[in-house]
Amino acid sequence: MKLLRVIANLGYGSRKHVQQMFREGRLTDATGDVLYADDVRDPRDVRLDGEPLDPPQGLILMLNKPVGYTCSTKDAGRLVYDLLPSRFRARDPVLSTVGRLDRDTSGLLLMTDDGTLLHRIISPKHHVPKVYEATLARDLRGDEAAIFASGTLMLENETTPLAPATLDVVDPRHARLTITEGRYHQVRRMFAAVGNHVEALHRSRVGGLDLDALPSGEWRALDEGDVARIFD
Ligand code: URA
Repeated sequence: MKLLRVIANLGYGSRKHVQQMFREGRLTDATGDVLYADDVRDPRDVRLDGEPLDPPQGLILMLNKPVGYTCSTKDAGRLVYDLLPSRFRARDPVLSTVGRLDRDTSGLLLMTDDGTLLHRIISPKHHVPKVYEATLARDLRGDEAAIFASGTLMLENETTPLAPATLDVVDPRHARLTITEGRYHQVRRMFAAVGNHVEALHRSRVGGLDLDALPSGEWRALDEGDVARIFD
């Protein structure tokens, strides 16, 4: 693909705008030689004002989502895209969230422009476990782990029971729940189904990938090793 299109697709500006950037000699290779709009190069070898370009198509990143941000491109209020470089919203193919976290849920959110990878991660067929740390309004009763593990729990307005899920009790008001599905508000509704209420919810892990020391509100691009860990 010609560089003009590659760079416009990365969200740096309209084709006209990017054309102007080429005319101004702002695009070079790693040695500083000026590049032209019709050139075909590996985007990783291209520099804009001396800086490497954003990761090319095939990007997958993880964000440590704070509470108060919505997984949407256009809702009112703060959006997860506000935590990324603004041009990421203009990328083509589009950068989507891999499933969703509620506005009031924090933690590990994946985003990618790779539709095949997105579906591999969210498809229940692949059983990618997601781990949530829940803070509860009431003490656990003691029977929740068995109910969640049963594979028979039916949430309100649903026609199929939930797949078995694993509950690890940390203390009477804190629990770690591992689920392999991604139904609407699933964790909150599971605790509601056993007479409790989730006061705070944080996703700490997707597959074998965790947030490590990534601070709240920060993101990083994943490499092949990270992606492999999702499917560990
Ligand atoms: N379950 C929920 O209830 N909320 C989330 O954000 C994710 C899972």
